[in-house]
This record gives sequence, C-alpha cells and structure tokens, in this order.
Amino acid sequence: MENIKSYIEENKDRFLNELFALLRVPSVSADEEHKGDMYKTAELIKQHLLKIGADRAEICETEGHPVVYGEKTINPDSPTIIIYGHYDVQPEGDLELWKTPPYEPTVIDNKIYGRGSDDDKGQLFMHVKALEYMIKNNNLPCNVKFMIEGEEEIGSPSLYNFVRQNKEKLKGDIILVSDTSMIANDIPSMDVGLRGLTYVEVKVQGPNRDLHSGVYGGAVANPLNVLCQMVASLTDENNHITIPGFYDDVLVVSEQDRLEMDKAPFNLEEYKADIGIKEIDGEKGYTTNERTGIRPSLDLNGIWGGYIKEGAKTILPEKAFAKISMRLVPNQDPDKIAELFAKHFKAIAPKTVAVEVTPLHGGDAYISPTDSIGFLAASKAIEKTFGKKPIPTRSGGSIPIIAFFDKELKTKSILMGFGLETNAIHSPNEHYGLFNFYKGIETIPYFYKYFVEMFMK
Ligand code: BES
Ligand code: MN
Ligand code: MN
Repeated sequence: MENIKSYIEENKDRFLNELFALLRVPSVSADEEHKGDMYKTAELIKQHLLKIGADRAEICETEGHPVVYGEKTINPDSPTIIIYGHYDVQPEGDLELWKTPPYEPTVIDNKIYGRGSDDDKGQLFMHVKALEYMIKNNNLPCNVKFMIEGEEEIGSPSLYNFVRQNKEKLKGDIILVSDTSMIANDIPSMDVGLRGLTYVEVKVQGPNRDLHSGVYGGAVANPLNVLCQMVASLTDENNHITIPGFYDDVLVVSEQDRLEMDKAPFNLEEYKADIGIKEIDGEKGYTTNERTGIRPSLDLNGIWGGYIKEGAKTILPEKAFAKISMRLVPNQDPDKIAELFAKHFKAIAPKTVAVEVTPLHGGDAYISPTDSIGFLAASKAIEKTFGKKPIPTRSGGSIPIIAFFDKELKTKSILMGFGLETNAIHSPNEHYGLFNFYKGIETIPYFYKYFVEMFMK
C-alpha cells in the first residue's frame, strides 16, 4: 500500500488527461438535448472500468439516463464495497461568468476548472484510479461494485426503481461515496449528515390574459405581486418557517451534540468574503453551521412571470410562477412536507387568484453513524494520508438516494468527500484542486484496507 504515492506520481499526467476527457462531455442531466452526451459519458466510464480490470461493466438502461454498473470479485466470501457516484452535472449557466469554458478543463493555480471537476466527475474518477492501483498492485482486499448514475442532479428519478429491481446485484457491506466536501485541505473533515429535500413549483393565476396595467392597474389583483407577498410570508422576522406543522417532526439535536459540532473550526470572515456578502442571515438562535446542518430552510430558487425582456412593457401579468426548495432534517418526511406546503400555500392565497402546487422531487435526510466500522475506516484512512483525524460535520446539501440505499438495500453509506465548499459547485467557475484529486486517490485504497481489516475482526 505504501507505493500508492509513487504510483500516483508516475501516472499523474495520464490520470489528469483521462479525467479531462470526461469533463469535456457536457453531461447535463436536466437538458434533454444532452441525451447523447449522457450515453457518451456512461460509455467512457464503462470503458475505464473494463480497462483497469473489472470483471464486468455495463450500461444499464433506465426510464431516464443510464446507470453504469461494474464489478470485480476477488472472492465471494470477502466483503464488498459499493462505490456510488454521479456522472451528470448541473447546467453551466451564464457562459459570460466563466473565466474558462465550462467544458474545456483548464488548470490554473493547481486547480482544475470546469463543470463537474468536483461535483462529481472529479470525485468519482478518483475511485476508478484507486481501483486501478489496487488491481495492478495486487492489493485489492475485497470485492467491489460501482454504481454511477446520471440523474443525481435532477433528484435521481430512475435510480429508485433501478435499486428496487437490482437488490441482489447491489448486495454489499458498505457504500462509499465521494460527493461532499471538507472544511479545508489542512482541516480534513467528513460529512456525517445530509439534509433532505422537498422541491415544489407553484403557479398563481389571476385574470384570463395579460391586462393593460394602466387600464386595470389598481383594480385587479396582480398575480406577481400576490406571489411575492405569499412567498414573503413563508418566513417570519426570525427566519422561522411559518407553514403550520412544518417543524413538528424535526429531530431536536441535544445541547451536548451542538457543543460538539461547534468545535469544528469556522471562519466567518472567510465565509463571507468567499461568497461576497457583508452580513450573514438565518434562523434566530442558531450558528451558521447549525443553520445548514441541523435546521431546515426554505428558499426561492427562481420566480418569474410577466414581462422580462428589454425595455418596459406595461402589463399586469395573468400568471406568476416560483420554484421553492425546502431543505429538511432527520425525521421530516418530504411527502408530508409537500402536503403541508400545498395546504398552507392554498390557504393563504387571496380569493383573487387560483393557486397550483406541483411537487418536483424530494428525498430524506441522512445521518451516518460515527461508531460504525465504515466511519472508523474512513477516519483512519484520512488520518493516514492527511496526518490529521477528520472532524465529523453535517452538510447542508442533499444526496436523496443515500437514505433510500439504507431503507431498501439495508446498506449504510460513508461520505468520504474531498471537495471544498469554496469549489463553486453548481456555480460558474467550478473547480477541484489537484491536491484534492490526488489525495483522494491516495486515501481510497487505505479505506479498503482498513474497512476489510475491521470487518474481518
Ligand atoms: N454533491 C452534491 C451534494 C453535496 C454537496 C452534499 C456538497 C454535501 C456537500 C449533489 O450533487 C447535489 O448537488 N445534490 C442536490 C440534490 C438535488 C438536486 C435533489 C442538491 O443538494 O441540491
Ligand atoms: Mn454531487
Ligand atoms: Mn450537485
């Protein structure tokens, strides 16, 4: 195992070029135009798995984008590690905001710039290269399965059925996921919690057509005005969510656990500087890390309607829309929250408009136990390669399928992510440090080693 460093050193340029080829394909799951790119990316990953010596690798059709499945069995009696990741990416957004083209990966200041460089192509590819090393050096200590999906960024709609239909194939002892972040390169940490999610779209309909805003303005309710007022009322002056019953099932974190969480280093000035804000905001009575880690939140993701092109057009729009996400914490049921939301949103609508609420997707929160051998093996692996034990943290992000793996496959997931919060995932100029890419490849084989040692005991 000690030769992993030299193996990376000897192959680092090839590893990078191989990753670049993946990053050049715009595998945007949200956009049907990229259907071909999804297959292209899946095929590339499949070929990589075969090339490094997987027994088998295949592209599995789903109702949506395909899943790449691969496996290597050394002994049916040995434990099995399942690697989960996603090859789809978020849309690149406004090209003018990118300093380098999103699908032309470029290294600047030892960072790889490009869509998916961190989330999640860069991170999933570390697992392919770590496996390459273990197979080549004859030190793969257990069986391994890869499940790489193409729909994570749109809520994994097809993966639920894929998992239900492939329970036997997906049998394993632990699921290892690199799709989260660390506090800093010199402050390694590991997420032990993910938030859940309920995502809805709302429509507010007023008159039967756009009206002249002079002829009718002041006499007819404006759906955009109404929507803004309704949305504004969803949180109060303490940033508490006002939907009745919303907090009923929230798992309250003990004072002791909060004190423990509070020990994680956090630099508020750097946090504000990184995202360019003067002041933070959030639910009264909680720290920034608590606000994203253990408390739910409600956000407008987009709001539209009426005239938005150049110049001024004087209309009173007939309808208005918004997309709203609610991040959830353990015990909150995404479907129940969607119902509570719809009931409340309709209840607060004035008689002047008609309201529709459409749930788009959702998923449960997840907590991974810090006393499990999976966590201990990851902690030991990170300590080995970073020289420091990772601090357990709770992330505000979501990977909804993780809780389902637990429920359906009865297999826990370990979130051993190597990104940084400052890597601008989902934003323009997403990047991933070369340090993080190579450090991840170095750390993963130790996870295998320690996990198998602890498992056998
Ligand atoms: N990798 C992220 C989630 C993440 C990022 C967790 C950083 C922890 C730290 C994932 O790809 C993601 O963006 N998930 C979506 C899920 C949604 C589309 C259903 C999210 O959180 O918005
Ligand atoms: Mn991701
Ligand atoms: Mn993402």
